Amino acid sequence: MLVPRVPLFALAAGCAAVFGCSGPRANDVTPEVAISAPPPGDRWEFNRRRYNRLYADPDQTVVEDEPSGFLLECLDRLAESGLRNGAIAIDVGAGSGRNSLVLAAAGYRVIAIDIAETGLDRLRERARTRGLPVETVHADVYSAPLPRDAFDLIALIYFAPRPVLFDALNAATRPGGAIVVEGFEHACQPDGVPIPERFVGWSVLRYEVTDERPDWRWRQDQGSARIVRFLAIKPEGG
Ligand SMILES: C[S@@+](CC[C@H](N)C(=O)[O-])C[C@H]1O[C@@H](n2cnc3c(N)ncnc32)[C@H](O)[C@@H]1O
Repeated sequence: MLVPRVPLFALAAGCAAVFGCSGPRANDVTPEVAISAPPPGDRWEFNRRRYNRLYADPDQTVVEDEPSGFLLECLDRLAESGLRNGAIAIDVGAGSGRNSLVLAAAGYRVIAIDIAETGLDRLRERARTRGLPVETVHADVYSAPLPRDAFDLIALIYFAPRPVLFDALNAATRPGGAIVVEGFEHACQPDGVPIPERFVGWSVLRYEVTDERPDWRWRQDQGSARIVRFLAIKPEGG
């Protein structure tokens, strides 16, 4: 296991509130709070190494600077109803942060979570250069204690979720908040269950499965693939 056990990651005060940390806080601007969650475990070590190599490679071919076009569309759509003051987004499997950066530029405070620390290093540097509010969390999302009703927007872009993650993200979304999912059909719906069925009672603004060239790819010459896109709003009462 290459990841040190404590501290696993630290978040600034605002995010500590999001993650439900209690305890003394020196002030409301800069205090750091260590969150106790297991580090990425052996189960994820293969993925962690694979992605660490990718983000550390200066010749990598994945599209890094262009955010997901679908996420941009969703942000436009969500902006029509206005952004809550202090709105918080979480980018799950953020990688080197192409999407975290546009979320932050759109006005969200962003928490970017990933098992691959080299991607988060790049993201922190790019966020700092652009003066954007992105906080990184190096953890396995399946072990991180996501708080309930906390996020105004959840981005799950080219991440392969296990079904249990949908339940956690459902609970973590604030009533009236939104989730954006985009990814390979085989990864997003491995058991064939359409994503809308994971979010019963939500208002589905977009759901499609199309054949297109993915905007996240291991190789630049990747052809078209079955892509799932989903945008939904959690009911205010729920
Ligand atoms: C295909 S990449 C997509 C990155 C980013 N969402 C994008 O669209 O550019 C998937 C990312 O998920 C991360 N990841 C995989 N399993 C994870 C886990 N269990 N917890 C947190 N991050 C994970 C990988 O390290 C990788 O950065």
